[in-house]
Amino acid sequence: MRKIKDLDWSNLGFQYRSCDSRYVSHYKDGAWDEGALTDDPNVVINECAGVLQYCQECFEGLKAYETVNGDIVCFRPELNAKRMADTAAYLCMPPFPEDRFLTALDMVVKANLEYVPPYGSGASLYIRPYMFASGPVIGVKPSDEYMFRIIAMPVGPYFKGGFKPISIMVSDFDRAAPRGTGHIKAGLNYAMSLHAHEVAKEAGYPENMFLDPKEHRYVEETGGANFYFISADGSTFVTPKSDSILPSITRRSLVYVAEHMLGLKVEERRIELSEIGQFSECGLCGTAAVISPVGVVNDHGKDIVFGKGLEDAGPVTKKLYETLTGIQLGKIEAPCGWIHKIA
Ligand code: PLP
Ligand code: COI
Repeated sequence: MRKIKDLDWSNLGFQYRSCDSRYVSHYKDGAWDEGALTDDPNVVINECAGVLQYCQECFEGLKAYETVNGDIVCFRPELNAKRMADTAAYLCMPPFPEDRFLTALDMVVKANLEYVPPYGSGASLYIRPYMFASGPVIGVKPSDEYMFRIIAMPVGPYFKGGFKPISIMVSDFDRAAPRGTGHIKAGLNYAMSLHAHEVAKEAGYPENMFLDPKEHRYVEETGGANFYFISADGSTFVTPKSDSILPSITRRSLVYVAEHMLGLKVEERRIELSEIGQFSECGLCGTAAVISPVGVVNDHGKDIVFGKGLEDAGPVTKKLYETLTGIQLGKIEAPCGWIHKIA
C-alpha cells in the first residue's frame, strides 16, 4: 500500500496547499541551469523583476491521479509542455525544453506521492508549472533572467458540489483582445478576468460566459474553461472555434472521445450567442473544471435553460464525464499515448 497523508480527501476544496517538494530551474546568461527539487516554498526575486513590472509570466495546469490499479498517472502532459513552450515564445521568454518539463513533472509527482489523493476520493493532485521573468527590467522589454517552477497540491472540485449543473452569466467585459493573448496561458489574461469574475460573483454566478472581443456576438469561453454544447437531438458535439480562446487539452480530448468513442458528430465552429437556446446541453471543460454541466446561462436578465436546468446534467454530458474520467482513472482503455505513468 502507498503511504498517504492524513487528509480529508473527499472534502478538499480547490485551494493552495504547500506540499513537501517543488522543482526550480533558473535561466541566466542564455541557458537554463540543471534544475533541482527544493523544499522551500518561497521565491526571492529582485524588486524590479520583469514579472512584477510588466507581467511577463505564464503557467500550465494538469493533474496526477491514482488509477483503479494503483498507478499514479498524468493525462497527456506532453500537450501541456508544448502549450507552455508556445506561450513562452509568444511572451518573448525562453521556452523550457519540453523533454525537461516532463522529467521535472515526474520528479515533483514522485517527491509528493503521499499527497496524491487515493483512488475513489474524487480528488487529484493539481500540478502548476509556471515561469516568470526574474531579472530586473525598467524599460519595457523582455527580461534576461527567468525562473521555471513546478508546484503541486491536492485539490477537490473547482466548483462547489462537483459534477452538478451551475448557472453562469454573459459578461459585459472582455477576457482577451482581438489579436491579443487569449490563445496563450499567460497570467495576465487571468488578471484581466478578475474584475468580471467579481461582478459575476456578486450577481450570484460562479463564472462568466465571455463573448468574442470584436463583435460580442460569438461564444468564447469562461475565465478558466472552454465550452461545448450538444445539439437538440443529442447527436452532435459543438464547440467554439476562435483565435482568442485557450486551446484546451480537455476540449481537444473530448472532440476525440465524442467522435471516436461515443459516435457523435463533431462541429468546431463559431457559435452565436443567439443560437445557444437551441442546444439541449451545455458544459465547461478544463483540467480544473473537468466537465462541469451548465444548467442556465443568464443573458442580461433572461435565463437560457439547458435540459433539466440546475436539477441534473444531460445524458450526453454524463457520458462524456464518465468516459473522460474513466480514461483518466484507468477504468476505460485510453487512446494510445494519453496516459503517462509516473509511479
Ligand atoms: N480556458 C481557460 C481560460 C483555462 O484557464 C483553462 C484551463 O487550463 C482551459 C480553458 C482548459 O484547458 P485545459 O483543458 O487544457 O486545462
Ligand atoms: C486549469 O484548469 O488548470 C486552469 O489553469 C484553470 C484555472 C482557472 C484554475
